[in-house]
Amino acid sequence: MTKIDQLLTKRDSAKVGGGQQKIEIQHSKGKMTARERIAYLLDTDTFQEINSFVAHRAHMFGMDKSQPMTDGVVTGWGKIDGRTIYVYAQDFTVLGGSLGEAHGMKIARVMQMAAQNGAPVIGLNDSGGARIQEGVDSLAAYGEIFYQNTQASGVVPQISVIMGPCAGGAVYSPAITDFIFMVEKSANMFITGPQVVKAVTFEDVDAESLGGAKAHTSKSGVADFSATTENEVLNQVKALLAFIPDNNLSSAPFRATADDRARLTPKVQEIIPENPGKPYDIHAVIKEVMDDGQFMEVAAKYAPNVVVGFAHLNGQSVGIVANQPFYQAGVLDINGSDKGARFIRFCDAFHIPLITFVDTPGFLPGVDQEHGGIIRHGAKMIYAYAEATVPKISIILRKAYGGAYIVMSSKHLRGDINFALPNAEIAVMGPEGAVNIVFRKEIQAAGDAESARQQYIDEYREELANPYVAASRGYIDDVILPEECRQKLIQALEVNQQKKVGTPARKHGNIPL
Ligand code: HXC
Repeated sequence: MTKIDQLLTKRDSAKVGGGQQKIEIQHSKGKMTARERIAYLLDTDTFQEINSFVAHRAHMFGMDKSQPMTDGVVTGWGKIDGRTIYVYAQDFTVLGGSLGEAHGMKIARVMQMAAQNGAPVIGLNDSGGARIQEGVDSLAAYGEIFYQNTQASGVVPQISVIMGPCAGGAVYSPAITDFIFMVEKSANMFITGPQVVKAVTFEDVDAESLGGAKAHTSKSGVADFSATTENEVLNQVKALLAFIPDNNLSSAPFRATADDRARLTPKVQEIIPENPGKPYDIHAVIKEVMDDGQFMEVAAKYAPNVVVGFAHLNGQSVGIVANQPFYQAGVLDINGSDKGARFIRFCDAFHIPLITFVDTPGFLPGVDQEHGGIIRHGAKMIYAYAEATVPKISIILRKAYGGAYIVMSSKHLRGDINFALPNAEIAVMGPEGAVNIVFRKEIQAAGDAESARQQYIDEYREELANPYVAASRGYIDDVILPEECRQKLIQALEVNQQKKVGTPARKHGNIPL
Protein backbone atom coordinates (compact mmCIF):
# COMPACT_ATOMS: atom_id res chain seq x y z
CA MET A 1 0.00 0.00 0.00
CA THR A 2 1.41 3.39 -0.97
CA LYS A 3 1.51 6.17 1.58
CA ILE A 4 -1.21 7.93 -0.40
CA ASP A 5 -3.39 4.81 -0.30
CA GLN A 6 -2.72 4.51 3.41
CA LEU A 7 -3.99 8.03 3.96
CA LEU A 8 -7.06 7.45 1.81
CA THR A 9 -7.84 4.24 3.71
CA LYS A 10 -7.54 6.05 7.00
CA ARG A 11 -9.83 8.79 5.75
CA ASP A 12 -12.40 6.21 4.66
CA SER A 13 -12.18 4.56 8.01
CA ALA A 14 -12.87 7.85 9.79
CA LYS A 15 -15.80 8.54 7.50
CA VAL A 16 -17.72 5.36 8.33
CA GLY A 17 -17.58 6.11 12.05
CA GLY A 18 -18.79 3.09 14.01
CA GLY A 19 -19.56 1.10 10.84
CA GLN A 20 -22.49 0.52 8.52
CA GLN A 21 -24.58 -1.41 11.05
CA LYS A 22 -24.37 1.39 13.62
CA ILE A 23 -25.18 3.95 10.91
CA GLU A 24 -28.30 1.97 10.01
CA ILE A 25 -29.39 1.90 13.64
CA GLN A 26 -28.87 5.67 13.78
CA HIS A 27 -30.95 6.15 10.62
CA SER A 28 -33.66 3.82 11.88
CA LYS A 29 -34.17 6.21 14.79
CA GLY A 30 -34.76 9.05 12.32
CA LYS A 31 -31.34 10.49 13.13
CA MET A 32 -28.59 11.61 10.78
CA THR A 33 -24.98 10.69 11.43
CA ALA A 34 -22.57 13.33 12.72
CA ARG A 35 -21.14 13.87 9.24
CA GLU A 36 -24.55 14.07 7.60
CA ARG A 37 -25.55 16.71 10.11
CA ILE A 38 -22.43 18.76 9.47
CA ALA A 39 -22.94 18.45 5.71
CA TYR A 40 -26.50 19.70 6.05
CA LEU A 41 -25.56 22.55 8.36
CA LEU A 42 -22.62 23.97 6.43
CA ASP A 43 -22.36 25.47 2.96
CA THR A 44 -21.55 22.77 0.39
CA ASP A 45 -17.98 21.46 0.51
CA THR A 46 -16.78 23.98 3.08
CA PHE A 47 -16.12 21.60 5.96
CA GLN A 48 -12.50 21.19 6.97
CA GLU A 49 -12.16 18.45 9.51
CA ILE A 50 -9.36 18.44 12.04
CA ASN A 51 -8.12 15.83 14.46
CA SER A 52 -9.79 12.90 12.74
CA PHE A 53 -6.70 10.82 13.61
CA VAL A 54 -7.17 11.39 17.30
CA ALA A 55 -7.91 8.20 19.22
CA HIS A 56 -8.36 7.45 22.90
CA ARG A 57 -5.51 6.27 25.12
CA ALA A 58 -7.63 4.18 27.46
CA HIS A 59 -6.69 0.57 28.10
CA MET A 60 -8.98 -0.68 30.84
CA PHE A 61 -12.18 -2.70 30.27
CA GLY A 62 -10.95 -3.89 26.85
CA MET A 63 -10.64 -0.36 25.49
CA ASP A 64 -7.16 -1.13 24.16
CA LYS A 65 -8.66 -3.56 21.64
CA SER A 66 -10.30 -0.82 19.59
CA GLN A 67 -9.20 2.72 18.99
CA PRO A 68 -11.63 4.16 16.45
CA MET A 69 -10.56 7.26 14.56
CA THR A 70 -12.18 10.55 15.66
CA ASP A 71 -12.86 9.13 19.12
CA GLY A 72 -16.57 9.72 18.59
CA VAL A 73 -16.63 13.38 17.71
CA VAL A 74 -16.16 15.11 14.36
CA THR A 75 -14.61 18.58 14.69
CA GLY A 76 -13.53 21.38 12.40
CA TRP A 77 -14.75 24.51 10.68
CA GLY A 78 -16.70 25.51 7.60
CA LYS A 79 -19.02 28.22 6.35
CA ILE A 80 -22.66 29.07 6.82
CA ASP A 81 -23.88 31.73 4.41
CA GLY A 82 -20.24 32.41 3.66
CA ARG A 83 -19.30 33.07 7.31
CA THR A 84 -16.75 30.96 9.17
CA ILE A 85 -18.25 28.69 11.83
CA TYR A 86 -16.52 26.20 14.11
CA VAL A 87 -18.40 23.01 14.70
CA TYR A 88 -18.28 19.75 16.59
CA ALA A 89 -20.68 16.86 16.13
CA GLN A 90 -20.72 13.89 18.48
CA ASP A 91 -20.90 10.62 16.59
CA PHE A 92 -23.24 8.25 18.38
CA THR A 93 -22.12 5.38 16.13
CA VAL A 94 -18.66 5.48 17.75
CA LEU A 95 -18.73 4.37 21.37
CA GLY A 96 -22.19 5.92 21.73
CA GLY A 97 -20.69 9.38 21.25
CA SER A 98 -19.47 9.01 24.82
CA LEU A 99 -17.00 11.61 25.98
CA GLY A 100 -13.55 10.55 27.09
CA GLU A 101 -10.26 12.40 27.42
CA ALA A 102 -9.44 12.64 23.68
CA HIS A 103 -13.02 13.36 22.62
CA GLY A 104 -13.22 16.18 25.17
CA MET A 105 -9.85 17.57 24.13
CA LYS A 106 -11.07 17.80 20.53
CA ILE A 107 -14.19 19.74 21.52
CA ALA A 108 -12.23 22.07 23.79
CA ARG A 109 -9.80 22.70 20.95
CA VAL A 110 -12.42 23.87 18.43
CA MET A 111 -14.00 26.04 21.10
CA GLN A 112 -10.64 27.64 21.80
CA MET A 113 -10.01 28.16 18.10
CA ALA A 114 -13.46 29.72 17.64
CA ALA A 115 -12.88 32.18 20.48
CA GLN A 116 -9.37 33.03 19.29
CA ASN A 117 -10.46 33.55 15.70
CA GLY A 118 -13.72 35.31 16.50
CA ALA A 119 -16.22 32.92 14.94
CA PRO A 120 -19.35 31.30 16.35
CA VAL A 121 -19.16 27.73 17.58
CA ILE A 122 -21.94 25.22 17.11
CA GLY A 123 -22.06 21.95 19.03
CA LEU A 124 -24.19 19.07 17.77
CA ASN A 125 -24.73 16.89 20.83
CA ASP A 126 -25.64 13.20 20.67
CA SER A 127 -23.87 11.27 23.37
CA GLY A 128 -24.13 8.65 26.08
CA GLY A 129 -22.31 11.11 28.36
CA ALA A 130 -19.12 10.58 30.30
CA ARG A 131 -17.28 7.53 28.92
CA ILE A 132 -17.60 5.11 31.76
CA GLN A 133 -14.38 3.21 30.94
CA GLU A 134 -12.31 6.39 31.16
CA GLY A 135 -13.48 7.38 34.62
CA VAL A 136 -12.07 10.59 35.98
CA ASP A 137 -10.36 11.41 32.67
CA SER A 138 -13.76 11.90 31.09
CA LEU A 139 -14.89 14.04 33.99
CA ALA A 140 -11.74 16.13 33.58
CA ALA A 141 -12.53 16.54 29.89
CA TYR A 142 -16.02 17.81 30.69
CA GLY A 143 -14.50 20.25 33.15
CA GLU A 144 -12.18 21.51 30.42
CA ILE A 145 -15.15 22.05 28.09
CA PHE A 146 -17.12 23.93 30.74
CA TYR A 147 -14.08 26.16 31.29
CA GLN A 148 -13.76 26.88 27.58
CA ASN A 149 -17.51 27.59 27.37
CA THR A 150 -17.16 30.13 30.13
CA GLN A 151 -14.09 31.76 28.60
CA ALA A 152 -15.81 32.05 25.23
CA SER A 153 -19.04 33.43 26.74
CA GLY A 154 -19.62 36.96 25.47
CA VAL A 155 -16.68 36.63 23.07
CA VAL A 156 -18.22 34.48 20.34
CA PRO A 157 -21.79 33.22 20.05
CA GLN A 158 -22.09 29.63 21.25
CA ILE A 159 -24.94 27.46 20.03
CA SER A 160 -25.87 23.99 21.25
CA VAL A 161 -28.05 21.61 19.30
CA ILE A 162 -29.28 18.57 21.20
CA MET A 163 -29.98 15.74 18.78
CA GLY A 164 -29.95 12.69 21.02
CA PRO A 165 -29.28 11.88 24.66
CA CYS A 166 -27.56 14.52 26.79
CA ALA A 167 -27.44 13.36 30.37
CA GLY A 168 -25.68 13.93 33.66
CA GLY A 169 -23.22 16.78 33.94
CA ALA A 170 -23.01 16.76 30.14
CA VAL A 171 -25.97 19.12 30.07
CA TYR A 172 -23.90 21.87 31.61
CA SER A 173 -21.87 22.66 28.52
CA PRO A 174 -25.02 23.47 26.51
CA ALA A 175 -26.40 25.28 29.55
CA ILE A 176 -23.48 27.71 29.52
CA THR A 177 -23.89 28.43 25.80
CA ASP A 178 -26.10 31.19 24.42
CA PHE A 179 -28.87 29.21 22.73
CA ILE A 180 -30.06 25.63 22.96
CA PHE A 181 -31.98 23.91 20.16
CA MET A 182 -33.61 20.50 20.60
CA VAL A 183 -35.05 17.92 18.23
CA GLU A 184 -38.52 16.90 19.37
CA LYS A 185 -38.93 13.28 20.51
CA SER A 186 -35.31 12.22 19.88
CA ALA A 187 -33.38 14.64 22.11
CA ASN A 188 -33.41 14.78 25.85
CA MET A 189 -31.53 16.55 28.59
CA PHE A 190 -31.50 15.69 32.28
CA ILE A 191 -29.18 15.59 35.24
CA THR A 192 -30.50 12.17 36.20
CA GLY A 193 -32.65 9.98 33.97
CA PRO A 194 -36.03 8.35 34.67
CA GLN A 195 -34.56 5.37 36.54
CA VAL A 196 -32.66 7.47 39.06
CA VAL A 197 -35.65 9.76 39.46
CA LYS A 198 -37.81 6.74 40.23
CA ALA A 199 -35.31 5.38 42.77
CA VAL A 200 -34.91 8.68 44.59
CA THR A 201 -38.30 10.38 44.43
CA PHE A 202 -40.55 7.44 43.42
CA GLU A 203 -41.83 9.50 40.49
CA ASP A 204 -42.71 7.58 37.33
CA VAL A 205 -41.70 9.58 34.30
CA ASP A 206 -40.41 8.73 30.85
CA ALA A 207 -37.38 10.35 29.24
CA GLU A 208 -39.43 12.55 26.90
CA SER A 209 -41.69 13.95 29.64
CA LEU A 210 -38.72 14.44 31.95
CA GLY A 211 -36.27 16.08 29.61
CA GLY A 212 -37.62 16.23 26.07
CA ALA A 213 -37.91 19.30 23.91
CA LYS A 214 -41.43 20.07 25.09
CA ALA A 215 -40.43 20.05 28.75
CA HIS A 216 -37.39 22.24 28.18
CA THR A 217 -38.92 24.78 25.81
CA SER A 218 -42.10 25.29 27.83
CA LYS A 219 -41.51 24.29 31.46
CA SER A 220 -37.87 24.64 32.43
CA GLY A 221 -36.82 27.30 29.93
CA VAL A 222 -33.54 25.43 29.42
CA ALA A 223 -34.01 25.20 25.63
CA ASP A 224 -34.91 28.07 23.32
CA PHE A 225 -35.95 26.39 20.09
CA SER A 226 -37.26 23.03 18.92
CA ALA A 227 -38.63 21.40 15.80
CA THR A 228 -39.82 17.97 14.79
CA THR A 229 -36.98 17.01 12.44
CA GLU A 230 -33.21 17.40 12.54
CA ASN A 231 -33.27 19.32 9.25
CA GLU A 232 -35.79 21.82 10.59
CA VAL A 233 -33.74 22.35 13.73
CA LEU A 234 -30.56 22.92 11.72
CA ASN A 235 -32.49 25.37 9.52
CA GLN A 236 -33.47 27.26 12.67
CA VAL A 237 -29.80 27.45 13.66
CA LYS A 238 -28.90 28.94 10.28
CA ALA A 239 -31.80 31.40 10.54
CA LEU A 240 -30.61 32.56 13.96
CA LEU A 241 -27.07 33.16 12.71
CA ALA A 242 -28.43 35.77 10.28
CA PHE A 243 -29.18 38.03 13.28
CA ILE A 244 -25.98 37.65 15.26
CA PRO A 245 -22.41 38.79 14.72
CA ASP A 246 -19.32 36.61 14.50
CA ASN A 247 -17.93 37.94 17.75
CA ASN A 248 -18.14 40.71 20.34
CA LEU A 249 -16.05 43.10 18.24
CA SER A 250 -17.99 42.84 15.00
CA SER A 251 -21.51 43.73 13.89
CA ALA A 252 -24.40 41.49 12.96
CA PRO A 253 -24.82 41.04 9.21
CA PHE A 254 -26.82 43.75 7.43
CA ARG A 255 -29.87 42.38 5.62
CA ALA A 256 -30.95 44.48 2.67
CA THR A 257 -34.68 45.09 2.48
CA ALA A 258 -37.16 46.60 0.06
CA ASP A 259 -39.31 47.57 3.03
CA ASP A 260 -39.44 51.37 3.02
CA ARG A 261 -37.82 53.04 6.01
CA ALA A 262 -40.61 55.62 6.02
CA ARG A 263 -43.41 53.07 5.71
CA LEU A 264 -46.32 54.04 7.93
CA THR A 265 -47.67 51.50 10.42
CA PRO A 266 -51.37 52.32 10.72
CA LYS A 267 -52.23 48.78 11.84
CA VAL A 268 -50.62 49.48 15.21
CA GLN A 269 -53.64 51.59 16.12
CA GLU A 270 -56.07 48.89 14.98
CA ILE A 271 -54.23 46.16 16.87
CA ILE A 272 -54.07 47.90 20.26
CA PRO A 273 -57.53 48.23 21.81
CA GLU A 274 -58.21 51.58 23.42
CA ASN A 275 -59.67 49.82 26.45
CA PRO A 276 -56.58 49.08 28.60
CA GLY A 277 -58.30 45.98 29.95
CA LYS A 278 -58.51 44.33 26.55
CA PRO A 279 -55.74 41.98 25.41
CA TYR A 280 -54.08 41.85 22.00
CA ASP A 281 -51.22 39.94 20.46
CA ILE A 282 -47.94 41.85 20.64
CA HIS A 283 -46.57 39.75 17.77
CA ALA A 284 -48.90 41.64 15.44
CA VAL A 285 -47.37 44.97 16.50
CA ILE A 286 -43.82 43.66 16.15
CA LYS A 287 -44.51 42.27 12.68
CA GLU A 288 -46.21 45.45 11.54
CA VAL A 289 -43.18 47.52 12.49
CA MET A 290 -40.17 45.34 11.61
CA ASP A 291 -38.69 44.76 8.15
CA ASP A 292 -40.85 42.58 5.92
CA GLY A 293 -43.02 41.49 8.84
CA GLN A 294 -40.26 39.12 10.00
CA PHE A 295 -39.61 38.21 13.63
CA MET A 296 -37.57 35.29 14.96
CA GLU A 297 -38.87 34.65 18.43
CA VAL A 298 -36.59 33.13 21.07
CA ALA A 299 -38.05 30.84 23.75
CA ALA A 300 -41.56 31.40 22.38
CA LYS A 301 -43.20 28.79 24.59
CA TYR A 302 -41.55 29.72 27.88
CA ALA A 303 -42.96 32.62 29.91
CA PRO A 304 -45.05 33.90 26.98
CA ASN A 305 -45.97 37.01 28.97
CA VAL A 306 -42.56 38.35 27.93
CA VAL A 307 -41.74 38.12 24.23
CA VAL A 308 -38.11 38.28 23.08
CA GLY A 309 -36.46 37.70 19.73
CA PHE A 310 -34.69 39.10 16.73
CA ALA A 311 -35.80 41.19 13.78
CA HIS A 312 -34.32 43.66 11.33
CA LEU A 313 -35.06 47.38 11.20
CA ASN A 314 -34.02 49.01 7.96
CA GLY A 315 -31.58 46.14 7.49
CA GLN A 316 -30.03 46.28 10.95
CA SER A 317 -30.37 43.39 13.36
CA VAL A 318 -32.20 44.32 16.57
CA GLY A 319 -33.24 42.49 19.72
CA ILE A 320 -36.89 42.90 20.66
CA VAL A 321 -38.15 42.75 24.23
CA ALA A 322 -41.90 43.16 24.71
CA ASN A 323 -44.69 42.52 27.13
CA GLN A 324 -47.42 40.25 25.78
CA PRO A 325 -50.87 41.57 26.79
CA PHE A 326 -52.36 38.37 25.38
CA TYR A 327 -50.86 36.30 28.19
CA GLN A 328 -51.48 37.26 31.83
CA ALA A 329 -51.94 40.84 30.60
CA GLY A 330 -48.19 41.04 29.97
CA VAL A 331 -47.12 40.97 33.63
CA LEU A 332 -43.53 40.61 34.67
CA ASP A 333 -43.08 37.45 36.69
CA ILE A 334 -40.17 35.25 37.77
CA ASN A 335 -39.80 33.31 34.53
CA GLY A 336 -40.48 36.28 32.29
CA SER A 337 -37.83 38.32 34.11
CA ASP A 338 -35.24 35.56 33.77
CA LYS A 339 -36.03 35.18 30.10
CA GLY A 340 -35.92 38.91 29.41
CA ALA A 341 -32.73 39.53 31.37
CA ARG A 342 -30.83 36.72 29.68
CA PHE A 343 -31.84 37.91 26.23
CA ILE A 344 -30.93 41.52 27.00
CA ARG A 345 -27.49 40.42 28.18
CA PHE A 346 -26.90 38.41 25.01
CA CYS A 347 -27.80 41.42 22.85
CA ASP A 348 -25.62 43.71 24.92
CA ALA A 349 -22.66 41.34 24.77
CA PHE A 350 -22.91 41.21 20.97
CA HIS A 351 -23.79 44.83 20.11
CA ILE A 352 -27.33 44.17 19.06
CA PRO A 353 -29.50 47.25 19.77
CA LEU A 354 -32.55 46.71 21.97
CA ILE A 355 -36.05 47.75 20.96
CA THR A 356 -38.58 47.52 23.79
CA PHE A 357 -42.37 47.55 23.42
CA VAL A 358 -44.02 48.29 26.74
CA ASP A 359 -47.55 47.32 27.77
CA THR A 360 -47.58 45.84 31.24
CA PRO A 361 -49.66 46.26 34.38
CA GLY A 362 -46.54 45.59 36.50
CA PHE A 363 -45.07 42.74 38.48
CA LEU A 364 -47.26 39.71 39.19
CA PRO A 365 -48.59 39.68 42.77
CA GLY A 366 -48.88 36.41 44.71
CA VAL A 367 -47.41 34.23 47.43
CA ASP A 368 -45.82 31.88 44.87
CA GLN A 369 -44.12 34.75 43.15
CA GLU A 370 -42.91 36.37 46.38
CA HIS A 371 -41.66 33.12 47.86
CA GLY A 372 -40.19 32.09 44.53
CA GLY A 373 -38.03 35.20 44.64
CA ILE A 374 -39.68 37.67 42.26
CA ILE A 375 -37.62 40.32 44.03
CA ARG A 376 -34.38 38.65 42.99
CA HIS A 377 -35.58 37.63 39.54
CA GLY A 378 -37.21 40.96 38.73
CA ALA A 379 -33.96 42.62 39.75
CA LYS A 380 -32.25 40.77 36.90
CA MET A 381 -34.29 42.69 34.37
CA ILE A 382 -33.40 46.01 36.01
CA TYR A 383 -29.77 45.04 36.18
CA ALA A 384 -29.65 43.82 32.58
CA TYR A 385 -31.25 46.94 31.15
CA ALA A 386 -29.21 49.28 33.34
CA GLU A 387 -25.97 47.52 32.49
CA ALA A 388 -26.63 47.34 28.73
CA THR A 389 -24.71 49.92 26.72
CA VAL A 390 -26.13 49.10 23.29
CA PRO A 391 -28.68 51.56 21.87
CA LYS A 392 -31.88 51.19 23.88
CA ILE A 393 -35.07 52.47 22.30
CA SER A 394 -38.57 51.95 23.65
CA ILE A 395 -42.19 52.66 22.81
CA ILE A 396 -44.78 52.63 25.56
CA LEU A 397 -47.79 51.28 23.71
CA ARG A 398 -50.31 51.44 26.52
CA LYS A 399 -49.76 50.52 30.17
CA ALA A 400 -46.50 51.18 31.99
CA TYR A 401 -47.18 50.93 35.67
CA GLY A 402 -45.04 50.91 38.75
CA GLY A 403 -41.71 49.14 38.85
CA ALA A 404 -42.42 47.68 35.44
CA TYR A 405 -42.36 51.19 33.95
CA ILE A 406 -38.87 51.70 35.33
CA VAL A 407 -37.68 48.24 34.35
CA MET A 408 -38.75 48.28 30.72
CA SER A 409 -35.86 50.29 29.25
CA SER A 410 -36.95 53.56 30.90
CA LYS A 411 -34.95 56.75 30.69
CA HIS A 412 -33.96 56.20 34.32
CA LEU A 413 -32.07 53.03 33.37
CA ARG A 414 -30.51 55.03 30.53
CA GLY A 415 -32.92 54.29 27.73
CA ASP A 416 -31.58 56.36 24.83
CA ILE A 417 -34.83 57.27 23.14
CA ASN A 418 -38.17 56.68 24.84
CA PHE A 419 -41.35 57.09 22.86
CA ALA A 420 -44.97 56.75 23.95
CA LEU A 421 -48.21 56.45 22.02
CA PRO A 422 -51.00 58.91 22.90
CA ASN A 423 -52.91 56.20 24.80
CA ALA A 424 -49.96 55.39 27.06
CA GLU A 425 -50.70 55.31 30.77
CA ILE A 426 -47.64 55.92 32.89
CA ALA A 427 -48.17 55.97 36.65
CA VAL A 428 -47.42 54.26 39.92
CA MET A 429 -50.38 51.94 39.45
CA GLY A 430 -53.55 51.52 37.40
CA PRO A 431 -56.46 53.92 38.01
CA GLU A 432 -58.69 51.33 39.73
CA GLY A 433 -56.08 50.37 42.33
CA ALA A 434 -54.96 53.95 42.81
CA VAL A 435 -58.35 55.49 43.56
CA ASN A 436 -59.23 52.69 45.98
CA ILE A 437 -56.18 53.65 48.01
CA VAL A 438 -56.05 57.42 47.66
CA PHE A 439 -59.81 58.17 47.71
CA ARG A 440 -61.05 55.25 49.81
CA LYS A 441 -62.65 57.48 52.47
CA GLU A 442 -64.22 59.81 49.91
CA ILE A 443 -65.69 56.87 47.95
CA GLN A 444 -67.12 55.30 51.11
CA ALA A 445 -68.64 58.63 52.16
CA ALA A 446 -70.26 59.28 48.78
CA GLY A 447 -73.95 58.50 48.37
CA ASP A 448 -73.35 56.61 45.14
CA ALA A 449 -69.99 54.89 45.77
CA GLU A 450 -69.77 53.40 42.29
CA SER A 451 -70.25 56.62 40.38
CA ALA A 452 -67.89 58.42 42.78
CA ARG A 453 -65.26 55.76 42.13
CA GLN A 454 -65.73 56.10 38.38
CA GLN A 455 -65.37 59.86 38.65
CA TYR A 456 -62.08 59.51 40.51
CA ILE A 457 -60.89 56.94 37.98
CA ASP A 458 -61.66 59.29 35.09
CA GLU A 459 -59.94 62.11 36.89
CA TYR A 460 -56.87 59.99 37.61
CA ARG A 461 -56.66 58.88 34.01
CA GLU A 462 -56.98 62.44 32.79
CA GLU A 463 -54.47 63.91 35.24
CA LEU A 464 -51.88 61.21 35.72
CA ALA A 465 -52.29 58.13 33.54
CA ASN A 466 -51.20 59.64 30.27
CA PRO A 467 -47.86 60.14 28.54
CA TYR A 468 -47.70 63.91 28.95
CA VAL A 469 -46.68 64.10 32.60
CA ALA A 470 -43.68 61.87 31.87
CA ALA A 471 -43.03 63.80 28.65
CA SER A 472 -43.09 67.11 30.54
CA ARG A 473 -40.29 65.81 32.76
CA GLY A 474 -38.30 64.65 29.73
CA TYR A 475 -38.72 61.00 30.70
CA ILE A 476 -40.48 60.45 27.38
CA ASP A 477 -38.69 62.02 24.42
CA ASP A 478 -41.70 62.18 22.16
CA VAL A 479 -45.32 61.16 21.98
CA ILE A 480 -45.77 59.64 18.56
CA LEU A 481 -48.62 58.49 16.37
CA PRO A 482 -49.15 54.74 16.00
CA GLU A 483 -48.45 54.98 12.26
CA GLU A 484 -45.07 56.58 12.96
CA CYS A 485 -43.67 53.63 14.96
CA ARG A 486 -41.44 52.23 12.22
CA GLN A 487 -39.96 55.48 10.96
CA LYS A 488 -39.35 56.85 14.46
CA LEU A 489 -37.61 53.66 15.58
CA ILE A 490 -35.41 53.65 12.49
CA GLN A 491 -34.41 57.28 13.01
CA ALA A 492 -33.68 56.64 16.68
CA LEU A 493 -31.61 53.60 15.79
CA GLU A 494 -29.56 55.56 13.28
CA VAL A 495 -28.87 58.45 15.57
CA ASN A 496 -27.59 56.06 18.25
CA GLN A 497 -25.49 53.99 15.89
CA GLN A 498 -22.18 55.38 17.15
CA LYS A 499 -23.25 55.41 20.79
CA LYS A 500 -20.39 55.14 23.24
CA VAL A 501 -20.73 55.09 27.00
CA GLY A 502 -18.16 54.29 29.61
CA THR A 503 -18.58 51.63 32.25
CA PRO A 504 -17.10 51.71 35.75
CA ALA A 505 -13.72 50.04 36.27
CA ARG A 506 -14.40 46.75 38.01
CA LYS A 507 -13.74 43.07 37.62
CA HIS A 508 -17.40 42.30 36.97
CA GLY A 509 -20.71 43.27 38.43
CA ASN A 510 -22.77 40.94 40.56
CA ILE A 511 -26.09 40.39 38.80
CA PRO A 512 -28.65 38.89 41.19
CA LEU A 513 -28.70 35.26 40.02
C1 HXC B 1 -19.35 4.30 27.39
C2 HXC B 1 -21.33 4.13 26.31
C3 HXC B 1 -21.89 5.11 27.14
C4 HXC B 1 -21.06 5.68 28.14
C5 HXC B 1 -23.38 4.47 25.74
N1 HXC B 1 -22.30 3.78 25.47
N2 HXC B 1 -23.18 5.30 26.77
N3 HXC B 1 -20.07 3.72 26.43
N4 HXC B 1 -19.81 5.24 28.23
N5 HXC B 1 -21.51 6.64 28.95
C6 HXC B 1 -22.12 2.77 24.44
C7 HXC B 1 -22.92 1.51 24.68
O1 HXC B 1 -22.21 0.64 25.51
C8 HXC B 1 -23.08 0.97 23.28
O2 HXC B 1 -21.87 0.37 22.93
C9 HXC B 1 -23.21 2.22 22.45
O3 HXC B 1 -22.67 3.29 23.24
C10 HXC B 1 -24.65 2.58 22.15
O4 HXC B 1 -25.39 2.55 23.35
P1 HXC B 1 -26.76 1.76 23.48
O5 HXC B 1 -27.05 1.64 24.92
O6 HXC B 1 -26.72 0.52 22.65
O7 HXC B 1 -27.74 2.78 22.76
P2 HXC B 1 -29.22 3.16 23.13
O8 HXC B 1 -30.00 1.93 23.40
O9 HXC B 1 -29.67 4.08 22.07
O10 HXC B 1 -29.14 3.96 24.51
C11 HXC B 1 -28.44 5.19 24.57
C12 HXC B 1 -28.29 5.64 26.03
C13 HXC B 1 -27.67 4.50 26.87
C14 HXC B 1 -29.67 6.06 26.55
C15 HXC B 1 -27.41 6.89 25.99
O11 HXC B 1 -26.52 4.02 26.20
C16 HXC B 1 -27.28 4.97 28.23
O12 HXC B 1 -28.14 5.07 29.13
N6 HXC B 1 -26.00 5.21 28.44
C17 HXC B 1 -25.48 5.64 29.67
C18 HXC B 1 -25.85 7.04 29.93
C19 HXC B 1 -25.23 7.59 31.18
O13 HXC B 1 -25.69 7.26 32.27
N7 HXC B 1 -24.10 8.27 31.02
C20 HXC B 1 -23.37 8.82 32.10
C21 HXC B 1 -24.11 10.08 32.50
S1 HXC B 1 -23.31 10.85 33.80
P3 HXC B 1 -21.80 -0.88 21.93
O14 HXC B 1 -20.36 -1.26 21.93
O15 HXC B 1 -22.71 -1.90 22.47
O16 HXC B 1 -22.27 -0.35 20.61
C22 HXC B 1 -22.31 11.86 33.02
C23 HXC B 1 -21.49 12.63 33.96
C24 HXC B 1 -20.89 13.77 33.26
O17 HXC B 1 -22.26 11.98 31.88
C25 HXC B 1 -20.32 14.62 34.30
C26 HXC B 1 -19.74 15.84 33.71
C27 HXC B 1 -19.35 16.78 34.78
